[in-house]
Amino acid sequence: MADGVETTAYLVNHSRARRPDLALDPFAESWIPGSERSAVRELWEGFARTVYEHDDLVVSLRCRAISDALEETLEAHPDAVLLTCGAGFASYPWLFRFTDVVEVDLPDMIAAKSARAAELQEQGVLPERRVTYLAADLSDAAQRRDVITTTTRIAAGRPVVYLAEGFVFYLPLEDCRATVTLGAEIPHLERTVVTYWESENPVLARQRKWFQQQGIPDDASYLSRADLAGLLGTSISFSSVDDLQRRYLGSVEIEEATELIPEHVAVADR
Ligand SMILES: C[S@@+](CC[C@H](N)C(=O)[O-])C[C@H]1O[C@@H](n2cnc3c(N)ncnc32)[C@H](O)[C@@H]1O
Repeated sequence: MADGVETTAYLVNHSRARRPDLALDPFAESWIPGSERSAVRELWEGFARTVYEHDDLVVSLRCRAISDALEETLEAHPDAVLLTCGAGFASYPWLFRFTDVVEVDLPDMIAAKSARAAELQEQGVLPERRVTYLAADLSDAAQRRDVITTTTRIAAGRPVVYLAEGFVFYLPLEDCRATVTLGAEIPHLERTVVTYWESENPVLARQRKWFQQQGIPDDASYLSRADLAGLLGTSISFSSVDDLQRRYLGSVEIEEATELIPEHVAVADR
């Protein structure tokens, strides 16, 4: 298993795999090879005991909201290309039929994802898709530029959807802001979908301590709705976890303010 901030990709994938009813991601359970599954389960259970036991709810809700936002864009632009940064083990390239996908993450994560995707495709678990894997550290301006250049070349004038799920808060503030707006420099960007934290709450405070114990960097960058509107424009919608619970579960079952990681989803259109 990868270590450092990449560990979080294993954690959130397990969260999706626990809630196939809500995440609607049938591939989540296959991403982790059999030899690593018990280690990932133990990691998740330790996280649940120490930080909070509802990561499966929060991650599956955000996956569902993102899936809806991607599906809507594909309906309007069937030739769309997806750029997904901090891709981790997310399954969107195989859940939807984008004409091309660019998946970006840190080098160890890209190695793990591309190798496992090839295995799963060979086994017939994943459908065939055209995916370009790009290793890049998004806290580095030159590497962000490479992502823009590569995606622009691959998209070749087709509409682009840009997704940054579950990681911009791990970047230093200036890099966080630059990563949120990275898609703006790609021609024909139609939609940006970003998940972000507005401020610390008791669960994030516990997560910070757990990260320290696991050797995961614990610095965080926060963004307000006004920041995001300033960065992405005013054609933007925001969903809190409570909003997503109301949308997909019919009511708020667990209060975000004190009991959940307060990860919000912003969807901005051109
Ligand atoms: C919580 S995981 C989310 C993964 C995926 N988006 C999902 O929701 O399942 C955070 C991901 O961001 C990636 N990441 C963190 N810092 C990064 C950086 N500086 N550059 C590129 N990727 C980064 C990690 O490697 C990890 O895969």
